[in-house]
Amino acid sequence: MPIVSGSSNEAIEQAARRLADGGLVALPTETVYGLAARADDDAAVAKIFAAKGRPADHPLIVHVLGRDEAAAFAAELNEDATRLIDAFWPGPLTVIVRRRDGCASAAAAGAPTLALRSPAHPVARALLARCAQLGVGGLAAPSANRFGRVSPTTAAHVRDEFGAELLVLDGGACECGIESAIVDCSQAQPALLRPGMVSREQIEQVLGRGLRDPDADSPRAPGTLEVHYAPRATLRLMEAEQLKAALRLLPSTMKGLAVYSRSAPRSHPLVRVMPDNPKAVAQELFAVLHEFDAQGVKLIWVEQPPDTAPWEGVNDRLQRAAAR
Ligand code: TXA
Ligand code: MG
Repeated sequence: MPIVSGSSNEAIEQAARRLADGGLVALPTETVYGLAARADDDAAVAKIFAAKGRPADHPLIVHVLGRDEAAAFAAELNEDATRLIDAFWPGPLTVIVRRRDGCASAAAAGAPTLALRSPAHPVARALLARCAQLGVGGLAAPSANRFGRVSPTTAAHVRDEFGAELLVLDGGACECGIESAIVDCSQAQPALLRPGMVSREQIEQVLGRGLRDPDADSPRAPGTLEVHYAPRATLRLMEAEQLKAALRLLPSTMKGLAVYSRSAPRSHPLVRVMPDNPKAVAQELFAVLHEFDAQGVKLIWVEQPPDTAPWEGVNDRLQRAAAR
């Protein structure tokens, strides 16, 4: 099955029916592309784990239209979760809440909690709305990449990863570009399990109190604990001065090396210019890593962005990509 335009009604209809029948569909969201199955069907959800090669104990995010649909999967939406939902949905923020007994057990990988998010992308919303009419209240969807690899931000990235068998709804390049921020609301004090483009400050302001760092009591977010988001090439994070000095020592035609930097000379043939704005970097980051991989680059030097709040999501992904 090819990539089809997500803006056609027929494509939405075909995708919704495939999902209702227990099949898989890749869909665009504002963060990254997701690989979806109906969340209430454990056998359908098992196909996601198989396709991704994802360990069975790594829970998935359930995507819903909004708060009412989320409530159907939750034991309770407490005050923290409700505040975040009302402030940031639809949008790039996931809440973890206590799961309603018997709901979405495969998506939750058996955990007593469940991650819920309402995507803002119009194609995702059209699909969720049609699925709801067909009796499907939520779609389990991890990023549409094989386990441990860079998340896809275009339909072509998904096809390159899974081949032409998979129905991919094309919604263009993802606007946000890195995965949603994840806030655990299942404990007495909320914790940020994965930073995203909704900043820590914005989240704390809405909660009216500080976020805890994840600790032993937090639900395990396996994908956030280990090496992840890795390109095939080795990625090295470097301070600007160190990177520029190293670059001066190399022939400008050096094979197998790519540089992603804000301050290295723009005209240097190996340099891909990193924007100064963290939103712009997040938007293109995974596409840049995919491009370097496609060019057969073996080593990527990345200039370390500033250690400031607006860069937290980007720095988190870069550190994981470099950790391999
Ligand atoms: O932006 C996103 O969140 C994208 C798009 C497709 O919505 N999805 C995404 O899903 O990034 P995935 O599966 O690649 O990452 C979900 C993360 C994983 O690190 C997983 O361990 C964590 O969320 N997670 C899911 N359910 C959880 C739970 N109940 N407790 C703790 N962590 C959970
Ligand atoms: Mg992922």
